[in-house]
Amino acid sequence: MNIVDLFIALVAFILPAYFGNMAPVFVGGGPPMDGGRLWKDKRRILGPGKTWRGFFGGIAVAAIVGAVIGLAGLYDEKLAENGILNNILEVSVLLEPVLIGLLLGFLQGLGALVGDAVGSFIKRRKNIERGGPLWGFDQLGFVVLAMLFVYPFYAWPIEYLVIIPVTFFVHLGANATGYVLGLKDVPW
Ligand code: CTP
Ligand code: MG
Repeated sequence: MNIVDLFIALVAFILPAYFGNMAPVFVGGGPPMDGGRLWKDKRRILGPGKTWRGFFGGIAVAAIVGAVIGLAGLYDEKLAENGILNNILEVSVLLEPVLIGLLLGFLQGLGALVGDAVGSFIKRRKNIERGGPLWGFDQLGFVVLAMLFVYPFYAWPIEYLVIIPVTFFVHLGANATGYVLGLKDVPW
């Protein structure tokens, strides 16, 4: 695989996680996931920034993005042969690119949003208020969990680990840009 093909494959692979991570800002709101409840330390379990609408909306957006990537034919056809799923389901079903994309997008979205909630749980335990930074986790929690969740179904090749350091800088750049443009209150 040449470098351009690898780049396209990497972007196509991780796009659902990126979209799933961004979506809650636009679709979030309503009842908080922790129902307002407190942890043993008398602080919110997750805080007001984690809502069910953001959680499920983010997962849905990731699944749709995955399906679109599948529809666009951007997934490697050999992709499904790498996972455990083809031992369970008919290979003919699995090789349907839209369904592969939907499944991979869903798993990445689930991983991304679980990672996001875990980050907030850690922040609240460390007494970092809503919107405060947790360096490393803010930039990478979502992408690491998205890649872990998808792995049993698609054992991505080792080169894909490059996504993790690249995401760190993409995340910093995107948030700093949002701040400069006045879309975000904080530059992280
Ligand atoms: N959001 C949501 N539901 C989620 C995740 C995010 O509704 N599961 C929305 C919230 O409006 C949140 C915004 O997206 O304020 C930005 O998300 P994030 O930066 O993850 O939350 P923070 O408000 O910074 O809160 P925390 O300190 O807990 O990360
Ligand atoms: Mg935040």
